[in-house]
Amino acid sequence: MNKLRPVGVIGTGKYVPEKILTNKDLEAIVETSDEWIVSRTGIQERHIAAPDQATSDLAYEAAIKALKSAGMKAEDLDLIIIATVTPDMAFPSTACILQDKLGAKGAAAFDLSAACSGFVYGLATATSFIKTGIYNNALIIGVDCLSRITDYTDRNTCVLFGDGAGAVVIGEVPEGRGFQSFDLGAEGAGGGLLKLEAGGSRLPASADTIENKQHYIYMNGREVFKFAVRVMGTATVDVLEKAGLTKDDIDLFVPHQANIRIIQSAMQRLDLPEEKVVINVNKYANTSAASIPLALVEAAEEGRMKEGDRILMVGFGGGLTWGASVLVW
Ligand code: UT7
Repeated sequence: MNKLRPVGVIGTGKYVPEKILTNKDLEAIVETSDEWIVSRTGIQERHIAAPDQATSDLAYEAAIKALKSAGMKAEDLDLIIIATVTPDMAFPSTACILQDKLGAKGAAAFDLSAACSGFVYGLATATSFIKTGIYNNALIIGVDCLSRITDYTDRNTCVLFGDGAGAVVIGEVPEGRGFQSFDLGAEGAGGGLLKLEAGGSRLPASADTIENKQHYIYMNGREVFKFAVRVMGTATVDVLEKAGLTKDDIDLFVPHQANIRIIQSAMQRLDLPEEKVVINVNKYANTSAASIPLALVEAAEEGRMKEGDRILMVGFGGGLTWGASVLVW
């Protein structure tokens, strides 16, 4: 992959809705406690989209900032990929809705469905387009409004999720920088562990699907936890090997923010000190496709990476899927 032109991040932006839902707020809604949520997940609060905000609205805010930071106009974009499992609607795609809102007239646009791994899948897809010369640049946004598909009577899931968007513009970068490797994978056999069953061609929306709460996230938390710990380890090893690097070469680790305990187990395996790990699950909870870009962009805004730093992103999620990448900043 490195024989082709180097492709990396040239602009970043993020957005979270204003409204904050704290653990204390949730104590008033379901049988839970701040102590349980913090000790089992590390989450303290999450942001929730306003009633009139849809996924494309969150994406728009992050996109505007990413374009500004790249010094680009929307018309300059060749490609828009939105990674999400909560599109505004089934179709048109949220990417097409955003293309119109931005006025990105020259851009191809599509949505990508790989749940929490979607952003890394999107980076790999767009990088391939640019490396092969089909396009020169792309806007990739990981964005989800999980609050819209969360059952706020189910304490097993409702404490875990939040809304947000993280965006990057990618394009050609100087030699030696940019994406060094990707490791994407799927285990479809585990799909039933984390799903939203109804509203598609298998189970179209009906009074029954509403009655049975099949328009909400279902998750077998314990099994997904085991999968997560396993693939965070294997994907990290594989993506480092593909880049010809070892764990000691990594300056910043940007993991999917689902549960602090999953992040800590990866830190232990890699023997990484906390200052090399981006953690914001406490503020945003699990924002699905937005999780890795929110962490990446926040770290960039806080000045945590400098030119030439090696960054390892790794995530896992519904599908089941995983995705990892090594990026030289
Ligand atoms: O983005 C990808 C997706 N998801 C994930 O990465 C999630 C992976 N899984 C997890 O993070 C964890 O499995 C959870 C946070 C979901 C659950 O933590 P756990 O330590 O695996 O708890 P558990 O499922 O073993 O449940 C322990 C107990 C249960 O009670 P019993 O059956 O032992 O009496 C639950 O009913 O905790 C109970 N419980 C709660 N108690 C208070 C579950 N949710 C809550 C809650 N408040 N919100």
